[in-house]
Amino acid sequence: MSEPTGAARRRGPFQVGDQVQLTDPKGRHYTFTLEAGKSFHTHKGAFPHDELIGAPEGSVVRTTGNVAYLALRPLLPDYVLSMPRGAAVVYPKDAGQILAMADIFPGARVVEAGVGSGSLSSFVLRAIGDQGMLHSYERRADFAEIATQNVERYFGGPHPAWQLTVGDLQDNLSDTDVDRVILDMLAPWECLDAVSKALVPGGILCAYVATTTQLARTVEAIREHGTFNEPSAWETMVRTWHVEGLAVRPDHRMIGHTGFLLTSRRLADGVEPPLRRRRPAKGAYGEDYASANREQASAQSGKADESGGEGTEPPATDV
Ligand SMILES: C[S@@+](CC[C@H](N)C(=O)[O-])C[C@H]1O[C@@H](n2cnc3c(N)ncnc32)[C@H](O)[C@@H]1O
Repeated sequence: MSEPTGAARRRGPFQVGDQVQLTDPKGRHYTFTLEAGKSFHTHKGAFPHDELIGAPEGSVVRTTGNVAYLALRPLLPDYVLSMPRGAAVVYPKDAGQILAMADIFPGARVVEAGVGSGSLSSFVLRAIGDQGMLHSYERRADFAEIATQNVERYFGGPHPAWQLTVGDLQDNLSDTDVDRVILDMLAPWECLDAVSKALVPGGILCAYVATTTQLARTVEAIREHGTFNEPSAWETMVRTWHVEGLAVRPDHRMIGHTGFLLTSRRLADGVEPPLRRRRPAKGAYGEDYASANREQASAQSGKADESGGEGTEPPATDV
């Protein structure tokens, strides 16, 4: 039986064409592709790629300047943080949440938009496997091109479960019987009609948004739409720790904000969403809410672009 796409590149001795992640004595990472006859240069000397070809992962190489580098294949979380970017990527901590909470399973039929740099596409393709289907939509042809290169470099070629369409999701989505839809874009509320038509009953809509105003608008639009159940919304924060002798404490620096997540499930056709038992807090939908909504709608009609320039992207941590 042949291996799932990309699996052969995840194990065994290093081969030509593999991605290698070097870690220097200060813990800094450098990523490159192995090519026979080439050298890797650092400011402390060089070493030939041939030294790694055929060597096991976890080998140590020394440069001509006698600096030792640990060589491992980058994990997918490493890879998405070091790959070329068009738009801001979904960070590994959120990709993990999406895979778990949107219940992405082997063989699932998934739709996503936008593709951006292809970070989430890579995580989803790995989870659904060769028998699944991921149809990704991206309105910008230049981002679609960057994403294609990133995904194909990771899997070592085209992934059989992946289809990419350049265009707006709401105008182009024609898939039916879709199990999961994941939206990572500025205005998910504009896509609800299309998403509702595509999803199977019980299917999951998952949205990833950067700001509280987007979160509120998406949740309210889902409620008003009438074909979804009550959405759940949350965020996660990951705090890394310094563990050394008696100095055991949180690291001083952390990524404080990436985005908010929400999920909601498609109801069966013709079903009225059950009434929520808990009434909204007094005043939650009063005059202040109406005027805030008006302001938000007019602010968002002069849309920000989504190239990662919204001031919300956490710093890249690699290369
Ligand atoms: C933050 S990026 C997505 C990043 C991507 N999920 C990743 O992990 O690399 C948002 C993308 O959505 C695209 N986009 C926004 N609205 C869209 C729509 N209605 N249909 C398709 N793509 C859309 C933008 O062009 C942008 O590339």
